[in-house]
Amino acid sequence: MLHRVAHRGYSTVAPENTLPAFAAALRAGATFVEFDIRVTRDGVPVVIHDRTVNRTTSGAGRVWDLTAEEIAVLDAGSWFGPGFAGLRVPTLAETLDLLAAGPAELLVEIKPPATLDEVKTIVAQLAERDLLGRSVIQSFDTDVIRKVRDIAPEVRRGLLLFRFDAETVQLSRELGVAYCNPDLADVLSGPETMAGLAEAGVGVMPWTPNDMAQWGPLVDAGVAGLITDHVGELTGWSTAPAAAPAAIL
Ligand code: G3P
Ligand code: CA
Repeated sequence: MLHRVAHRGYSTVAPENTLPAFAAALRAGATFVEFDIRVTRDGVPVVIHDRTVNRTTSGAGRVWDLTAEEIAVLDAGSWFGPGFAGLRVPTLAETLDLLAAGPAELLVEIKPPATLDEVKTIVAQLAERDLLGRSVIQSFDTDVIRKVRDIAPEVRRGLLLFRFDAETVQLSRELGVAYCNPDLADVLSGPETMAGLAEAGVGVMPWTPNDMAQWGPLVDAGVAGLITDHVGELTGWSTAPAAAPAAIL
């Protein structure tokens, strides 16, 4: 089965990395919900993509320079649309409480930098809700992946990449990752790396194919899933009983 991964939640219908985006992803048939974690100045994991709160909230400043209390009062919805005014940046705890009640797996991205204690806190919050078996923890930062391996070796890990390179297969083997997730262009232009990863038992879920015309070629290239902003459309595309001829889509 092709994994249908909701990138930052169903982020075309609700503000990315918010509780409504996660709820919409579940409603739209996501098999994985992806989200991003950063840690506040006072050590609270929150769910937000950028280093700063500037783009997606009413505030300003770096996440790690702000306290959880300072972030909790920011408006994280108005930038997306007036109907979402008053939404908050969710804590990791709030996010996990919502996702624990749903059927989807969790694709948990830890944004660097993250200290060993911060990674321990994140893993502990997953463990408290019995979510470790339903989670893949991924990062662009190999140090973060190694920390996850040291803390909870049984948890599936993912290596995020901007580019496949000559070391990709070996690095994936060394880190013992279940998934190696590159930019979608690399999947289409890197059949040798795709074959090497398949031989190593490593799945590939590229980001961020938002154009339906990309999905067929990526599936043909052997992906395990697609990380997209359009998870509802992907659910329809991948589960429709009568597929359109490949030459069309
Ligand atoms: O899960 C893959 C994708 O989220 C990585 O890129 O920048 O959206 O976190 P980014
Ligand atoms: Ca991400």
